[in-house]
Parts: sequence; structure tokens; C-alpha cells
Amino acid sequence: MPKLGSQLQYYQQRIEKVLDAVLPKATLNPQHLHESMRYSVLDGGKRIRPLLVYATGEALGVDRKVLDIPAAAVELIHVYSLIHDDLPAMDDDDLRRSKPTCHKAYDEATAILAGDALQALSSHLLAHDTALESVLSAQQRLNLIQILTHASGSRGMAGGQAIDLAATGKSLTQLELENMHIHKTGALIRACVLMAIECSDNCSEVQVQQLDHYAKCVGLAFQVRDDILDIESDTETLGKTQGADVASNKATYPAILGMKNARQKAIDLHAEAVAQLDDFDHGADKLRNIADFIVNRLK
Ligand code: IPE
Ligand code: IPE
Ligand code: MG
Ligand code: MG
Ligand code: MG
Repeated sequence: MPKLGSQLQYYQQRIEKVLDAVLPKATLNPQHLHESMRYSVLDGGKRIRPLLVYATGEALGVDRKVLDIPAAAVELIHVYSLIHDDLPAMDDDDLRRSKPTCHKAYDEATAILAGDALQALSSHLLAHDTALESVLSAQQRLNLIQILTHASGSRGMAGGQAIDLAATGKSLTQLELENMHIHKTGALIRACVLMAIECSDNCSEVQVQQLDHYAKCVGLAFQVRDDILDIESDTETLGKTQGADVASNKATYPAILGMKNARQKAIDLHAEAVAQLDDFDHGADKLRNIADFIVNRLK
């Protein structure tokens, strides 16, 4: 399995510290809620979305310090989406990031509230973080909030989740399946790239188009790969229950197109993604590295 390069590991460690610092301390009231937020966010996950923020910023020469809060904000939305995705009313999963899911470790009401609070914290940081206020204009911070809230809402991730639930047990066309994946997973991944672009002062219109195209391909490839791994990997490697999609009769790429076509789809999307970076120099190597990792990863 391709490993994330040491520079990407550096970013994983960096975002861990940022997340630790922005989350309310567990000793703060209401302690139970704050504990559950920290339990779900810290010490787990691949951090692909923050890595995409940092890697896009690097391709555009943006100072890492400017990217810390946008990277944390998107990871908080992602974790909130995972907590709610695992609830009994949704996918009803017991294992996440190799630990009991939030509602198992705590309780359902706490898991709902932890998700709610993480979502609010995400926008609050973009609006009010003092370090971000000193490096980005009010207009830029407003644009970041707009990008992320649009990607998370009913026209993005939450809408995709609604489509997913409605599609369970049904046979979708390839176009319908793609539409679902683009919303439930692709929108947030695309937001990572768009947010880093927003933090840059010198991204040409052509570069915006290329990076956005890269993000759309990588975002779709990510969910195609997630669907494949649900069948091909194992619970220990995944850190979540293998076979959960099949057990709940989910609409997935392998279920609808077959495994061979699903694999080919991921390969094609990878090629299309990296082709968008042809005009970029070595500054975009981490974006190339992330695309490789997403398509070849085992978890
Ligand atoms: C899992 O996302 C849910 C999907 C959108 C496919 P990740 O595979 O990024 O999960 P973590 O963050 O590494 O746990
Ligand atoms: C999750 O998709 C998408 C979001 C959380 C928005 P899945 O339901 O496939 O994610 P996993 O497989 O549980 O991580
Ligand atoms: Mg789901
Ligand atoms: Mg799920
Ligand atoms: Mg899945």
C-alpha cells in the first residue's frame, strides 16, 4: 500500500495539534459533551481533508499558518458527518476509527449534540479565530464560511446523505449513483481545495479550474474506493465494520456496476485528477501523492 509521504505525515501531526487546541477542554462544562467531541475528533482518521487543504495551499505558495484553521474547520464538519452517519437512524454502525462509535461510547443524544456542536464550532472558528483574523480579510473569511457551509448543507454533504438513505435497497442508474457520491463525499473534498484557493492571493483563473477539476475527480474517486474497500478490506484495517454496505443493501459502485467496473472507475478518475496538475511544478507533488493514496489505499 502506498504510504503517505513523510511531509504528509508532518501535516497529519500538525492538524492533530490544531484540533486539540481548538476543541473545548474536556474539563469545561458540559464535560460529557466536550469529552465526546474530543473522543470523536482526536487521535484517529486519515485526515485526508486537512491534507488536501495544506497540499493545495502548498501548490499555491500559501503560508501553512493561514491554512490551519480552514483545515481544522473542514475536519470538524467531516467528523460531525461521521458521528451522525453512524447513528442507528442512519447506518447504525458500532465501530469508527477502530473505536466504538460516538453513540456507543456515550449515548445517542450526546452523539447528536456532539455533531451539532462540531458543526457550529467549524463556522465559529472561521468567523472568529484571532490568528485567522490577523491573516485573512473579513471578506475572505466570509467566503470560507460560504464555501464550507454550502458544501455541508442540503446541496452538499447533508443532501447526499439524504439521497443515500432514500436509495438504500434500490437500484440506481450510474448517473444517479454518481450524483449521490458527488454530494455526500465529493462536495466536502472539493471544499478543501476551494478553501485553500480562497486563502491564496495569486491563483489564476486557469489554475482555479484545474484544481477544481482535480478536486471533483479525487472526491468521487474517494467514495468509489470507500465502497470497494467495504467489500475487499477487513474490519481491523478499515477501523470500521467491513461489509456494512452489503449488509444494509446500500447503493454503491460495486453493487451497481460490479467490482471490475468500479475499480476501473477509480483508476480513470485518478488519471483525470493528476492530468489536471500537469501545468503545476513540484509544489503540487503532495496533491499528486494524495490522489495516489486515495486510489490505492487499503483503508
Ligand atoms: C469516511 O471518510 C467516510 C466517507 C466520506 C467515505 P474517511 O475515509 O476520510 O474517514 P477517516 O476520516 O479517515 O476516518
Ligand atoms: C459517509 O459515507 C459519507 C458521510 C459521512 C458524509 P459512508 O456511509 O459510506 O461512510 P462510512 O463507510 O460509514 O465511513
Ligand atoms: Mg452512510
Ligand atoms: Mg456509513
Ligand atoms: Mg462507506
